Amino acid sequence: MNAMNGTWTGWRRLLGGLAVAMSLTGCGREASPDTDAFLAQHWQEPMAPQGAPPGHFSALEASLHPEACGQCHTAQYADWHASLHSRTMGPGLRWQLALMDQAQGNRCLRCHAPLAEQKALVARELGWPNAPAQAPPAYVAPDLAHQGLVCAACHVRGHQRFGPPPRQGGVPDSPHDGFVVSHAFEDSRFCAHCHQFPDDGPRIAGKLQEDTYRQWLASPYAQDGPDRQTCQTCHMPDRRHQWRGIHDPDMTRQAIAVELALDRLDDTHYRARARVRNRGAGHHFPTYMVPKVELVFYRKGADGGVHELGRQLIGWQVDTQITREIADTRIPAGATREFAQAFEASGQDWRLELVVNVSPGEHYERIFRDSLNRADTFPAGAVVLLRQALAEVEGKRYELMRASVDAGAALTAGEIGIAK
Ligand code: HEC
Ligand code: HEC
Ligand code: HEC
Ligand code: HEC
Ligand code: HEC
Repeated sequence: MNAMNGTWTGWRRLLGGLAVAMSLTGCGREASPDTDAFLAQHWQEPMAPQGAPPGHFSALEASLHPEACGQCHTAQYADWHASLHSRTMGPGLRWQLALMDQAQGNRCLRCHAPLAEQKALVARELGWPNAPAQAPPAYVAPDLAHQGLVCAACHVRGHQRFGPPPRQGGVPDSPHDGFVVSHAFEDSRFCAHCHQFPDDGPRIAGKLQEDTYRQWLASPYAQDGPDRQTCQTCHMPDRRHQWRGIHDPDMTRQAIAVELALDRLDDTHYRARARVRNRGAGHHFPTYMVPKVELVFYRKGADGGVHELGRQLIGWQVDTQITREIADTRIPAGATREFAQAFEASGQDWRLELVVNVSPGEHYERIFRDSLNRADTFPAGAVVLLRQALAEVEGKRYELMRASVDAGAALTAGEIGIAK
């Protein structure tokens, strides 16, 4: 935030580099065809303040607040508001910001609240040194930072709107001086700014902590042809702004196919096998170390007795200090992984059951619980947020699916493999 110069409009960047490459095509002006160059400018770090809005803009056109955009773009606003991109400044981030200095905090804000105006608001709220002294101007609503990854962070630079090619031709007389068209919005690289660490980013066991774009690039979905699917085609179908992912049970069900099989080793020894195929995620399932998918195996007797046989995890398990890999059982796009569970049982009057549970924020659950144990050193405000964050993340667990095999019926039908 060394760039604010203590004012809201200071250090104003005109879109000089881009303007040269723009040509007029209806109301949407085509930006540079070079997606990498466009994105380097668009996601420049630190991001420049928007500067003073053009004099002829109404207060509504000038406002950076998502509710202002939502006055006209009602569908995008409704989707975004229900999406996780509107929650990137939740208590899980804010209790940590309260313990950080400005340089550390701004590193998180690059992805969680990227606008210069949002960083300035956070600096004022937390009493960081390099914050504007005056109250924000009208186009910067006081709660803009708490709105998270706002529309303007992806679409507005220097008060100019940027967007994908319009669906059908240009729209004459559109407000906010129209918009600049860039195919970069339809490109997976657009998302990489926040969903991919650079090559020199932090690694565990040699693997980048955030590697979603590269995982996609290595997947069948990145290859040219009829099967090509970008981040947008899967996460923004029909350009919807929902960004459904592992927090959404229906989306996650599309990601995997699970087959359950039973092997008899001898009269009393069996082995359950769950074969999990990543059939619908365009990257590892799951892509980050944060979520965990748990397979719980049960034997259910005819008498109603339920015996848990064991649990196995799909995910990248890392210690809470983020220094050491515990296990990595993620499933790359298109690949299958088998999870076997041996057990003992007598007779055949029982069923094998598999329950698949999802903890979308498992890694944070552990970090937050560990942190609560040393919370006596934290400011009181941070502790309140930390408790709230832990409750929120625990509340996001859900059951994804179940499968079962009836031992007696499977034996009779010869469906139980006899293991060698
Ligand atoms: C007063 C109404 C109004 C407001 C306020 C408004 N817009 Fe627009 N915007 C339009 C209209 C009309 C168009 C052209 C038709 C369309 O694409 O919906 C447009 C076009 C766009 C486009 C180009 C869409 C494309 O096809 O590429 C983007 C992006 C955009 N607006 C973003 C925003 C953002 C972000 C905000 C808030 C910071 C905002 N707009 C505020 C009315 C508005
Ligand atoms: C490169 C972009 C990037 C940076 C930098 C970044 N994050 Fe995140 N953060 C993400 C993404 C993407 C997710 C979603 C992870 C998922 O869904 O598995 C996330 C999720 C989170 C969550 C869980 C969701 C929530 O809101 O409770 C917390 C907490 C969090 N980040 C804290 C931080 C902190 C603290 C920093 C700075 C030390 C930071 N992040 C830096 C991209 C980033
Ligand atoms: C994380 C970045 C991001 C955020 C936040 C975001 N958008 Fe978008 N928006 C996109 C991308 C990417 C596309 C193009 C998707 C595609 O082409 O498949 C798009 C497309 C659009 C379009 C064109 C839609 C169409 O049907 O042609 C409009 C209008 C728009 N966004 C407005 C908004 C508004 C308003 C908000 C806030 C409520 C918002 N966007 C938030 C990334 C974002
Ligand atoms: C400016 C940074 C930024 C950009 C750009 C961005 N994201 Fe995100 N995204 C985040 C953060 C931070 C989160 C975590 C939200 C949370 O959990 O609090 C997130 C969450 C998500 C999730 C929800 C995952 C879940 O856990 O359920 C999906 C899906 C997603 N992003 C897809 C995309 C796609 C597709 C694009 C490109 C069109 C994109 N993102 C662009 C920062 C970004
Ligand atoms: C073929 C469809 C498809 C493509 C392409 C795709 N995703 Fe996903 N994505 C999914 C599905 C399904 C899930 C839910 C299961 C999961 O978490 O893996 C998901 C989950 C996620 C999550 C949730 C966090 C996590 O740990 O899994 C994020 C973030 C995400 N995707 C971002 C992206 C980004 C960024 C791209 C482009 C580089 C992308 N996705 C490409 C289908 C896709």
